[in-house]
Amino acid sequence: MKIGVVGSINVDMVYSLPKFLKLGETLMGSNFQLLMGGKGANQAVMTSALVDDVVFLGAVGKDSFGTNAIANLTSKGVGVENISLKDNSTGLAIIQLVNGENSIAVIPGANLDIQKSEIDHFLDQHPDLGLVISQLEINMDAIIHLVDQCKARHISIILNPAPAQKLSSDLIDKVDYLIPNENETEFLFNSQDYEKLVTDFAGKLIITLGSKGVMYYDQQKAVISPSQKIEVVDTTGAGDSFVAGFAAGISKKLGIKAAVELGIEIASLTCISMGAQGAYERVKKEHYEKARNSK
Ligand code: RIB
Repeated sequence: MKIGVVGSINVDMVYSLPKFLKLGETLMGSNFQLLMGGKGANQAVMTSALVDDVVFLGAVGKDSFGTNAIANLTSKGVGVENISLKDNSTGLAIIQLVNGENSIAVIPGANLDIQKSEIDHFLDQHPDLGLVISQLEINMDAIIHLVDQCKARHISIILNPAPAQKLSSDLIDKVDYLIPNENETEFLFNSQDYEKLVTDFAGKLIITLGSKGVMYYDQQKAVISPSQKIEVVDTTGAGDSFVAGFAAGISKKLGIKAAVELGIEIASLTCISMGAQGAYERVKKEHYEKARNSK
C-alpha cells in the first residue's frame, strides 16, 4: 500500500545541557549537532524504513537547509516530487537535551505556507494512496483540507495532533486514527481519563504514554501495550517513530495490537539513538524484511 505523509520539514539544532534553563540563566552546553528533523519528515523517513512506497508533501525555503533536507529525504527513499520551495526560511527546531529528555522551540517558516492546491495536486498525482499521515506542524487550513480530501477519496488518515492544538469534533470524526501523547490528549479533551477516552473513541484514539506504554481499544476494552525497557539516549522523535511503525503495521493489515507493538519497537530504537531519524539504518536493516513480508 502506498503511504503519503503531509507535514513539516525542519533542521534540528541539538545541544546538551546539564539541566533545563531557568528564565534569565546562562549555562555552558556541549555536543552541538545539526540533524534532520520535523515531525513530517521524521515520520516519512521512518515509514520508508519499513515499507516500499512513501511519498511526501511538504515545503522548505530556498536556502541550504532546504536543499540538505530534500537530499536527506531522497537518500532515505522518500518521494520528494511534492516538496515546494517557498519565499520563507526552512523550518528550524532548537532542541535542548538534558539526560535524554528534551525541550524544543520550533520556528516553522516554510512549513506554514502549504497551499490547498498543492494538496489537491499531490492526491491527484498519487491516486493509489491507501493511507495518509499528518501532524500539526503545518498550517491548519492545509490540514483541514487534507482530511476532507482524503475522506472524499476514501483514503485512510492518521493524524498525530502534535504539537498540541485544539481540533474541531468534525475533524476528529473524519480521521481514522488519532495518535496524541498524554499532554496532547489532555489539551484536546480536557480529561486524564484515558480509559474512558479510548473507549469513547474505540479503534480511533491511540494514546502514547511514554515509558508506561500505549493505550488503545481492542477486543471490547481499553488495553495497554507496555513500552520496552531501554537505556534512553535521546527521546526526540520517539512519537514520530511510533506513528511510522503503527502506519506501516496498518498498511500491512497487521491489526491494531500488532501495529501498536511495531510502533513501540520502532520508537524504542529511536530512543536509544541520537536524533529523531538516527535509528533509520537500524530499523531498515532489522525490521524492513519483517514488515515487508507480513501480510
Ligand atoms: O518530534 C520531533 C521533532 O519535533 C523534531 O525533529 C523537531 O524538528 C520538532 O519538529
